[in-house]
Amino acid sequence: MINPKEIRKDFPIFENNPNLIYFDNTATTQKPRQVIEKIKEVYEKYYANIHRGVYKISEISSEEYENSHKLVADFIKCKEWREIIFTRNTTESINLVAYSYGLNNIKKDDKILISYMEHSSNLLPWRFVCRKTGAKLEYINVKDYKLDLDDFERKIDEKTKIVSITHVSNVLGTINPIEEIIKIAHEKGALVLIDAAQSSGHLSINVKKLDVDFLVFSSHKMLGPSGIGVLYGKEELLENMEPFLWGGDMIKDIDFDKEYLNDLPWKFEAGTPNIVDGIAFGEAVKYLNKLGMKNIEKYEQELTKYFLERFEEFSNKYKDVILMGSNDYKDREAIFSLVFKINPHIIGKMLDSYNISVRTGYHCCYILFRHLDLYKYKGSVRASLYIYNTKEEIDFFFEKLEEIVKRFGS
Ligand code: ALA
Repeated sequence: MINPKEIRKDFPIFENNPNLIYFDNTATTQKPRQVIEKIKEVYEKYYANIHRGVYKISEISSEEYENSHKLVADFIKCKEWREIIFTRNTTESINLVAYSYGLNNIKKDDKILISYMEHSSNLLPWRFVCRKTGAKLEYINVKDYKLDLDDFERKIDEKTKIVSITHVSNVLGTINPIEEIIKIAHEKGALVLIDAAQSSGHLSINVKKLDVDFLVFSSHKMLGPSGIGVLYGKEELLENMEPFLWGGDMIKDIDFDKEYLNDLPWKFEAGTPNIVDGIAFGEAVKYLNKLGMKNIEKYEQELTKYFLERFEEFSNKYKDVILMGSNDYKDREAIFSLVFKINPHIIGKMLDSYNISVRTGYHCCYILFRHLDLYKYKGSVRASLYIYNTKEEIDFFFEKLEEIVKRFGS
């Protein structure tokens, strides 16, 4: 059972900002004391570079850093922890696949399939690969705020080499049917990358069961530090891919005209990595494990249901306000993008005057707003909730939102 009031006690940010209503969890989440203290512990007790020293504190740092990879591997149920590569963030993980796999395997007239609901980080790297190789980028339709699977089946063919899709939309909150997408893509011989940036701290993920080829996410969106991202890749794919970055730690030996690459995952972790944040990320995973992902899913569904009920009351009075996303709590996460006729930044600023933090604008999904013909409204006001948010906060949000639209219009 999730008790948000108890959970809040673990988050110093709420102690230091007692009136803060933090509704921008899709952008980044707050950090529990366990993660913050781990950062301090490493610097104060055993900070040293990893994989280099023969001395004790370097051995401890190396072991802790590797252990975080193991915790993450276990968290998403992969076969080997060697399949877990730490990067800077989701964006870097997708770029790694685009450069190392894409540029070397995609050919002229091949096809890469994404969807209209992708974040810039799951669009621009593929547009780049297509420009370089002469392949074609196609978009799967979004209909009623969901992926149009019929359109997907129409567009996927034997020329499709990669399907790269978000698990959960950072604007719509829609949970995509990734099992089905992976199955269909594999039948056509395409590889699948799943962008799990918005799902990794919210839904249980089992990469083995999904049979997904690549899965990417960020520590900072699941209670961990920023500056650490994850690329999961199937071992045989990673083994056959070229390194993304070249330098120290990704090689075992260098001769005058040849280099001998390091084992996974280090082959893809060139240079001194983000050691301390990588170690502290492990604490975030332990924290989520302790709460239990099933409990988190259940509590978020409860918040989602409640938010949708409150929105229905609100929209009965302010009929022209659009909720971008399904009104069925079972299909979605607690990410709510509201579109008004007035500029979303004005509403965001006003909400901030009541200590409510939301994100406003296009949320790096310009194509989605254009596709849905909502671009002209300058984006949305997005409230995104997590384990420390409460129904009382949702009530306060709608109370203040109503005051704002009464004053400025909707
Ligand atoms: N992708 C993050 C968001 O949606 C930054 O806010």
